[in-house]
Amino acid sequence: MRVGILTGGGDCPGLNAVIRAISLALIEQHGAEILGIERGFLGLIEGRVRPLDVAAVRGIVNEGGSLLGTHNRADPFHYFGSGGSDVSARALETLGRSGVDVLVAIGGDGTMTIAERFARLGVPVVGVPKTIDNDIAHNERSFGFDSAVAVVAESLGRLETTARSHGRVMIVETMGRFAGWIALEGGLAGGADAILIPERGYRLEALAEQCLKRCANQGYALVCVAEGAREVGGEMVLQSAPGAPARLGGVGQRLMEGLQTQLGAGSSLEIRHTLLGHLQRGGSPTAFDRVLATRFGVQAARMVVEGAFGRMLALQQGRCLSVPLADVAGHNRQVPEGDELVSVAHDLGVCLG
Ligand code: F6P
Repeated sequence: MRVGILTGGGDCPGLNAVIRAISLALIEQHGAEILGIERGFLGLIEGRVRPLDVAAVRGIVNEGGSLLGTHNRADPFHYFGSGGSDVSARALETLGRSGVDVLVAIGGDGTMTIAERFARLGVPVVGVPKTIDNDIAHNERSFGFDSAVAVVAESLGRLETTARSHGRVMIVETMGRFAGWIALEGGLAGGADAILIPERGYRLEALAEQCLKRCANQGYALVCVAEGAREVGGEMVLQSAPGAPARLGGVGQRLMEGLQTQLGAGSSLEIRHTLLGHLQRGGSPTAFDRVLATRFGVQAARMVVEGAFGRMLALQQGRCLSVPLADVAGHNRQVPEGDELVSVAHDLGVCLG
C-alpha cells in the first residue's frame, strides 16, 4: 500500500507530530510506503512528491511547522497559478504516476473542501483536521489550538506586568478568523478583563465602562480581542482588498482608537495594543498538542487501513470517530450561544462586549 500525505492551509504546531504518527503507524504496523506531497495541493499540481521513511520522521514530534511545507491558496479546482482555472487533472495525474493508493489530507476547512471534491472524483481520501482556530465543523478540538492559546495566555501575563506598572489599558489581538475560540480560551487563561469575539458584537460604551472600572479598582485593564470581532452593526477589519479572499487583522488598533474617542480628549487613560499575529502559529507544540496530533495520526492510519474513505477524523466528546467530508466542507464551528466558557467569563465579571 502506498499512502500520500499532504498538509494544506496555514501551518500550525503539531503538523510534524501527526505526519510522524501516520507514517510510523502505517510503516511499522502495515509495511506501507509513504509519500510526502510538498506544499499541500501545490505539490500535487506540480508533481512534487518524495518518499518518507522512518528516518525522515524521527525526532520531529516537538517541531513546529510542517516538514512537507504547506500552501493556503493552491486549490487545484481554482488554481491561482492558471488564472483560477481547474487543473485538478494535473493533480490526479501526479497521484496516478506516483502510485498513491490513498491520500491523507491534513488541513482546515479549505483543505477538507478540496479533499471532498477529490473524493467525489473517486480518490480514496482520509481527512485529518488541523487548525489553531479550532473552527472545523464536527471536531471539538484540533491540535495547534492549545499551542496558540498558550501563546495568548503567556502574552497577556507579560502585558499585565507592564500594564500594572503604567496603569494602562492593554489590548491583545488574537487570530481565529471568524471564530472566537482562541480569544475566549486565551483570554480566560490570561485573566483578561474583556474578551471580544466575532460571535457577539461589542459596544465601545460597555468596553470603556469596564476599562474605567478595572482601572479604578485594580489599576489597569487587559482586553483580549479576536481578529474577527466587530462593533454591533459594524464590519470586520480586513487587511485584504475588496473582492480578494478575506485576510483579517487590525481590530486591536481600531479598538484602541475607538476607546480613545469614547473616553474623550480629557481622559488621561493610556491605551496600547499588541497584534500577536503569526507568533500564535509558530514554534513548538505544547505537550497536549503533541499527544493529540499523535493520537490523530494513529487513528488516521487506522482509517486508511479500514478503508474509511471520503471521511474526516474527528474528536467528539473526547473520542475519535469519523464524519463524511461532505458534512465538513464549507462549514465552520463558531462559539455557540450559551457556550459554557462564555457563561464562565460572564460570571467572573469579564466584559463580553
Ligand atoms: O486559519 C489560521 C489562521 O492563522 C487564521 O487565524 C488567520 O486569520 C489566518 O490563518 C492567517 O493566514 P495567513 O497565514 O495567510 O496570514
